[in-house]
Amino acid sequence: MKQFKQDFLWGASTSAYQVEGAYGEDDKGLSVQDVKAVLPGTPDFKVASDHYHHFKEDIALMAEMGFKTYRFSIAWTRIIPDGDGAINPKGIEFYSKLIDECLKYKIEPLITMYHFDLPFELEKKGGWSNRKTIDAFLKYAKVLFEEFGTRVKYWLTINEENMMILHGAAIGTVNGSAAEVQKILYQQNHHMLIAQALTMKLLHKMVVGAKIGPAPNISYVYPKTCKPEDILAMQNFTAIRNWLYLDMAVYGRYNTVAWNFMEKTGITPAIEAGDMEVLKDAKPDFIAFNYYATATVADGSAIFEDDESGDQQISIGMKGFYAGSKNEYLQKTQFGWEVDPEGFRITLREIYDRYHLPLIVTENGLGAYDEVNENGEIIDDYRIEYLQKHIMQAKLAVDDGVELLGYCPWSAIDLISTHQGFVKRYGFIYVNRTEDDLKDMKRLKKKSFYWYKKVIASNGEDLTNNK
Ligand code: BG6
Repeated sequence: MKQFKQDFLWGASTSAYQVEGAYGEDDKGLSVQDVKAVLPGTPDFKVASDHYHHFKEDIALMAEMGFKTYRFSIAWTRIIPDGDGAINPKGIEFYSKLIDECLKYKIEPLITMYHFDLPFELEKKGGWSNRKTIDAFLKYAKVLFEEFGTRVKYWLTINEENMMILHGAAIGTVNGSAAEVQKILYQQNHHMLIAQALTMKLLHKMVVGAKIGPAPNISYVYPKTCKPEDILAMQNFTAIRNWLYLDMAVYGRYNTVAWNFMEKTGITPAIEAGDMEVLKDAKPDFIAFNYYATATVADGSAIFEDDESGDQQISIGMKGFYAGSKNEYLQKTQFGWEVDPEGFRITLREIYDRYHLPLIVTENGLGAYDEVNENGEIIDDYRIEYLQKHIMQAKLAVDDGVELLGYCPWSAIDLISTHQGFVKRYGFIYVNRTEDDLKDMKRLKKKSFYWYKKVIASNGEDLTNNK
């Protein structure tokens, strides 16, 4: 059996607004996440895991696990507090120190430029609906590449652009019901795609040898049955969820089925002269993607009504196109997300077959209610089992011929979930706080911490869990 490459990028991920805290410190501007209304009973993002003040300790723990990479995001609002105005030297200083801390341990920084936290000042001017946000992003990108380009080899443009369009209400990047704002959203999407293309080009021009790619959430979509109408529904959802984003990033063209969906529903974006050339002109070096589970859909043409209650992994459907459906062969997590390790291999094969670019997994993991026992331990065997099975399937995908550069589960350390609070923990490192009590923020090593250390040390060969 083929093995993971010798320089395989083992690591894990976080995002700035979910982990850093210090939301108003050192001249940081507000982001849309800082001002969004959180669900009753869930915390806001003001303190999060206080990574801003604990980053040295946190990176030392990641180094202890043997990380080869750490995927984190830079908060645009720390670098340019109002999104397109003055540069904040304290923001540059913070990320400079964070990058140096990683490099000290030979941990390759893998940086997401934008992870759901658009500067609020830009949002007030229309956010991504305003074409000027493309210029603002480019300005921000230029600062990042100038300041950090010599130290950072791997860049990710935009985290889960597809989820911001499909489930922005759950993530907190869209106000109000997505159905009412479809036309606006697909125009925003067009602008983000242009921003991404220009950014990829800019990096290649500014930093020779640096690599960049998109980071959507990609899931293989199963048809509920082999009924032809279910297959059509599967193709519809696959196009809208996955290929719209990757066909554009790689080939610079709108996916036909997705474009047809936009035409039929009257939500095609306005495309200005020169846009399609810009989109065609950029090429990613790799595809990064987040994977939690597959999706299953059935024919959506009948009595089905649109429903807004979905999230990144719970697909509800669109009347006339597809209906989200349960997969009876899969178990669910405590938070209702299906678990499908084989689907991971299927998704890896599908993406690679379609685009023939190296892949990096930038998220994969299990959100669960972790408990500290009377001995101060966190025995998260369920997480180990989830990751074990997924790494095994990644290995099989490598054996199938997929070129896989790295694996970064979500998340390196406990942090705040997009919409389900701190109780939905994902980390290898436990953070001692609750929804409403910040306690001492102490870091504790979960059982999965020791397990992952062993996995990395053996380059993915030893996945055993000693119970
Ligand atoms: C991805 C996001 O959708 O899933 C992360 O990129 C997010 O920001 C992760 O935290 C897990 O989702 P959730 O909703 O459980 O936080």
